[in-house]
Amino acid sequence: MKLELSNITVDVTDGGETRHILSGLDLVVEPGEVVAITGDSGSGKSTLVALAGLLRRPTSGSVILDGVDLASPSTSERDRTATRRREIGLVFQSSNLFPSLTAAEQLELVAHIDGRLDRDARARALELLELVGMGERANQRPGKLSGGERQRVALARALMNQPSIVLADEPTASLDAPRGREIMALLAESARVQGTSTLIVTHAPDQLSNVDRVVHLSGGQLVDRDLVGV
Ligand SMILES: Nc1ncnc2c1ncn2[C@@H]1O[C@H](COP(=O)(O)OP(=O)(O)O)[C@@H](O)[C@H]1O
Ligand SMILES: [Mg+2]
Repeated sequence: MKLELSNITVDVTDGGETRHILSGLDLVVEPGEVVAITGDSGSGKSTLVALAGLLRRPTSGSVILDGVDLASPSTSERDRTATRRREIGLVFQSSNLFPSLTAAEQLELVAHIDGRLDRDARARALELLELVGMGERANQRPGKLSGGERQRVALARALMNQPSIVLADEPTASLDAPRGREIMALLAESARVQGTSTLIVTHAPDQLSNVDRVVHLSGGQLVDRDLVGV
């Protein structure tokens, strides 16, 4: 599914003053495409992910999925939540796994919340854990897993609802370089295999080898960045 952000503005009031975080930002991510976003700390990368993930509304502008503007004031929070659960997979810097659940249960919970934890969902959970190389550890709780392994589980969980859009906000920040590259490769592979539109925030230039396009966030807008030399 195509993800389109059009003429996005985000203003925040800070001590009585208005600050423009994003101003007139445009971005299109095509199905199967992997786009990386770089940018200085505080440039608005996480804000952008939150907008695309329907976790936050822009001050103005459109967030269009499948031709529908989900940022429009006429779209209810209920519709946004339903679309997020159905179409969007999110991965954050910290894996945010539940300490008391096994790797398989973290994924099954996604299906459970949707009221469809059945035999197929359990099978899919195991399949996804295999995909991220965690099939053997499906019955382990997060406390027994390394940081890289936990991020693999978080990635598998993000894919559990068969999302059309995958958004990852610095998913490799807590990992060493080789582990980070593995996660990036898995994100790219899932984009290609499942046709998801994938947006990854990263500040590690050595981890851009699997992406199709890099855009840089600066001054509230995105500029294309040459893959050569980053
Ligand atoms: N709800 C908010 N209220 C006030 N300031 C915010 C809010 N959300 C984000 N910001 C500010 O917007 C800027 C961009 O934040 P963020 O998107 O987290 O940047 P990044 O992820 O690139 O580091 C920061 O200066 C942050 O403090
Ligand atoms: Mg951030």
